[in-house]
Amino acid sequence: MEPGKDPERLAVDLRFDVPHSARVYDFLLGGKTNYDADRDAARAAVEAWPGLPVGMRHNRMFMHRVVRHLVGEYGIRQFLDIGTGIPTPPNLHEVAQGIAPESRVVYVDNDPIVLVHASALMKSAPQGRTAYIEADFRAPESVLGAPRLHEVLDLTKPVAVSLIALVQFLRDEEDPYGIVRRLMRDLAPGSFLAMNVLTADTNPVQLAALEQEYTSQGIPLKARTKAEAEAFFDGLDLIEPGVTLIHHWRPDEDVLADGLRDADIAGYGGVARKRA
Ligand SMILES: C[S@@+](CC[C@H](N)C(=O)[O-])C[C@H]1O[C@@H](n2cnc3c(N)ncnc32)[C@H](O)[C@@H]1O
Repeated sequence: MEPGKDPERLAVDLRFDVPHSARVYDFLLGGKTNYDADRDAARAAVEAWPGLPVGMRHNRMFMHRVVRHLVGEYGIRQFLDIGTGIPTPPNLHEVAQGIAPESRVVYVDNDPIVLVHASALMKSAPQGRTAYIEADFRAPESVLGAPRLHEVLDLTKPVAVSLIALVQFLRDEEDPYGIVRRLMRDLAPGSFLAMNVLTADTNPVQLAALEQEYTSQGIPLKARTKAEAEAFFDGLDLIEPGVTLIHHWRPDEDVLADGLRDADIAGYGGVARKRA
């Protein structure tokens, strides 16, 4: 469906009166695509954990560094970004195409409001391509089987799957580990998995308050230990430095310069390659 073509359906789906993870995140990143319910939820979440906006900015910075390394060092030219969120420049394709303009990126999200803004994700460099698919990560077949995905990505060649600030919204009963394995199964050898995972390891008290706050707003959150984060990469080869707190993953000079403490960061991140 093209954005804006079915206002009746959007009016039903968007539910401005209920906070949504993508819009709460957008508000915390300083964006404008959010409503009173989202802002109230975001403020309550920041009260629970004042470091939240800093942590979210570092999620984005982690994604930028990962993409730069995958394009610049590992020659990746195809990305599948699931749980894209409301566009926040620079978006993944802007980072990738800034280095290799021929890069191709397929974005996936299941939130109708992201769909409304998807045109911002489609402004590809002419040498490359981008596409947006409305689909649910919990149904990986609907992602991998989408005709649009195959128009843009060649699955006989390596693809980097990026899952940034996504799996915390899945409980273990929803089998996030199995979903990730299923996604990677059909990809070519040399493909990558890049993801971050919410943790309470660095700040258990405030993370418990944050989990409680999000859950009470109807957005269940699941934090995981380092071992649980590493388990997402089972069967793949982690590249250096392995699974670390996100700000320790190949940090640029400015990442650690502002007095950032580990207790400010509630996420592990890692990047791993599928074996030949
Ligand atoms: C916190 S935002 C992260 C956005 C972006 N990846 C980033 O790091 O800036 C999480 C996004 O995941 C999306 N999401 C949550 N559950 C999803 C699912 N089951 N399938 C697809 N997208 C999902 C939400 O709609 C939201 O846009």
